[in-house]
Amino acid sequence: DKGGWSSFMAKEINEQPEAVANTVRGRIEGDHVVIPELEALGDDVLRGIDRIIIIACGTASYAGQVGAYAIEQWARIPVEVQLSHEFRYRDPVLSDRTMVISVSQSGETMDTLMAVKYAIERGVKTVSVCNTQSATIPRESDAAVYTHAGPEVAVASTKAFIAQITALYLIGLHLGRVRETLAPEDSAAAVAQFETLPEKVREAVETHDQIAQLAHWMADTRSVLFLGRHVGYPIALEGALKLKEIAYIHAEGFAAGELKHGPIALIDHGQPVFVLVPSPRTAPLMHSKIVSNIQEIRARGARVIAVVEKGDTSVLPYADDVIRLPLADALFEPLLQVVPLQWFALELSTAKGLDVDQPRNLAKSVTVE
Ligand code: F6R
Repeated sequence: DKGGWSSFMAKEINEQPEAVANTVRGRIEGDHVVIPELEALGDDVLRGIDRIIIIACGTASYAGQVGAYAIEQWARIPVEVQLSHEFRYRDPVLSDRTMVISVSQSGETMDTLMAVKYAIERGVKTVSVCNTQSATIPRESDAAVYTHAGPEVAVASTKAFIAQITALYLIGLHLGRVRETLAPEDSAAAVAQFETLPEKVREAVETHDQIAQLAHWMADTRSVLFLGRHVGYPIALEGALKLKEIAYIHAEGFAAGELKHGPIALIDHGQPVFVLVPSPRTAPLMHSKIVSNIQEIRARGARVIAVVEKGDTSVLPYADDVIRLPLADALFEPLLQVVPLQWFALELSTAKGLDVDQPRNLAKSVTVE
C-alpha cells in the first residue's frame, strides 16, 4: 500500500526520519552506544580486531564507504570497502583479527552471500548489517545488526541506505567505546547528533517541492555529474546511481579533488553538476576547496546546483541553484545530502514518464551471481 503516495519510492523517501530513529532506538545508553548483538561477540574479540573489510554491492556499498570514514575515525581501525563480487577473486589477506561487515538490505544478494561464506571459511568474524529479519546473510553471520527501516518495496533503495549508514555509525561508536579510542565527549556529541537527526532528515525531505521544480526544468537533461569530498564522495556516487537506475540518465559521481585529473574535460556549457558542499563551520578546509571547485566548473560553463547547509552564502555568486539543508556535524551531513538527490532522481524519472518503482532490467533482490 502506497499510503497515498504516487510511488513506493516517494513513500519510502518520506519514511526516512523514522528509519533513522528506529535503527538508533534501543542502542543508546546515556552518552554511549551499546549494541547487544556486538556485545555478544565479546569485548576481547572486538579489541583484537586489526582490520575491517566492508563488503556490499550498489547502494549498500556506498553506505559502506560512508560508514568506513566514521568507523576509522571513532574506532581507529583501518577499514576498506570491497564490492562483494570482487572480494573472492583477489585472494584477500585475511586473519583471525579481521572483521568482515556485510551490508545488504535484502540479506539475500547472492554476490554478498558468497563473499560472506568465503570469509567464514577463512575463519573471519562476520557481522551482517541487514534490513530483512532472518534473511540468509544475517543467519550465516556471527552477529546481525539489523537496520529497522521497515520493508522497502521500490527497487531503488532509499530508506534502507540511510538506515545502513546509521547502523555502521553505531557500530563505529560501539567499537570506539570498547577499544577506548573514542573520547567520551565525542561519543556524547555523536549521540546528540542522532537525537536531532530524524527532525533534520524531515527537513531534508521537505526540499521536495524545490527539487521537483528543478527536475521539471531539466526533464531533457542527458547527463548529470555529482561532486563530493570525504563523506560527500560516496553520496555523489549514490546520487549518480539513483539517476541511472530510475531515470536512465547518464550520471557520474566524482571526488571533487579528482576534477583536475581528468573529469573537468567533461564540463561544457550547460552541463549540470550537483556539488555537495560540506559545512564551513565544521569542515572549513574542505569547504574552501569545494568552493574553488565550484568556481572552476562555473568558469567553464557548468550549471551548478549546490547543496549547502543553511546560512552558507559563500556559493551564492557561483551557483545557479542552491538547496539548503539543516546544520549537522560533518559526519552526519551525508544523511541529509542524499535526500534531495533521491527526490531529483524520482522527479526526473516521473518527468520522463517512467515507472519509478520498477525500473527496466532491475530486480529488488539480486539472487544470482
Ligand atoms: C540501488 C539498489 C542496488 C542495491 C544492491 C544491493 O538502489 O537497489 O544497488 O543496493 O543490489 O542490494 P542489497 O542491499 O539487498 O544487498
